[in-house]
Amino acid sequence: MNHWDAALYDRKHSFVAELGETLITLLAPQRGEQILDLGCGTGTLTNQITRSGAEVTGIDSSADMIEQAKKKYPQLHFEVADARKLGYAGQFHAVFSNAALHWMKPPEAVLHGIWNALRPGGRLIAEFGGKGNVAAVIQAIFMVVRELELDDQLCSLPWFFPSIGEYTSLMEQAGFQVKYAAHFARPTRLEGEDGLRSWICMFGGSLLAPFPAHLQGAIISKVESLLKADCFSDGGWTADYQRIRVVGLKPCE
Ligand code: BEZ
Repeated sequence: MNHWDAALYDRKHSFVAELGETLITLLAPQRGEQILDLGCGTGTLTNQITRSGAEVTGIDSSADMIEQAKKKYPQLHFEVADARKLGYAGQFHAVFSNAALHWMKPPEAVLHGIWNALRPGGRLIAEFGGKGNVAAVIQAIFMVVRELELDDQLCSLPWFFPSIGEYTSLMEQAGFQVKYAAHFARPTRLEGEDGLRSWICMFGGSLLAPFPAHLQGAIISKVESLLKADCFSDGGWTADYQRIRVVGLKPCE
């Protein structure tokens, strides 16, 4: 399980919400709609969606993230919830999810819960990491850990980065009509000399968790050296993000 530092998330990784803003255009929230923001983090996009006049519930599995979201937006509704065990029954017009579904395994259970949460005619609008996401970073971490002969301690990847075929099949199995699906490269800037280090500490924490702090630092330094030529320029890093965007409809009976 990843440990989330919600303050660091807002301070150094606000690009996650900024890059998700265009997903709100795809959501096209309407006044009076009930919308579930699944994996809302510290609530930045939840708050932006409410500007449409929709009523939004933000949920996240991290108590730290939800505490920070409640502090930032005390007027909004946030809850800690496990996406694999959603207990909603047909109350939402839309489920929205930005940069979160790749953390939620198994995807079948998550899609089942989303389906149940939606009214007939409701929609799922999501963006998350697709096949090949951050492959260069992952490969570099594996290479360094192997070189140090520590690979027997490495955990399996905490993420699910499906191909578009895999994910739309799962959506159909859950009952959705897939209205839109796209897989695209979105190189993502990690500002500053320490941008990659900070990203790995924030998001790859569970991958490096088996190693003591000094070893984690050494692994990250070696990863930086390996990736510097290809991924560092003009004072910052670029991570090889690959995104999947989907729109699914729960048809009216
Ligand atoms: C992503 O948004 O693609 C992502 C974030 C953290 C870890 C892995 C992927």
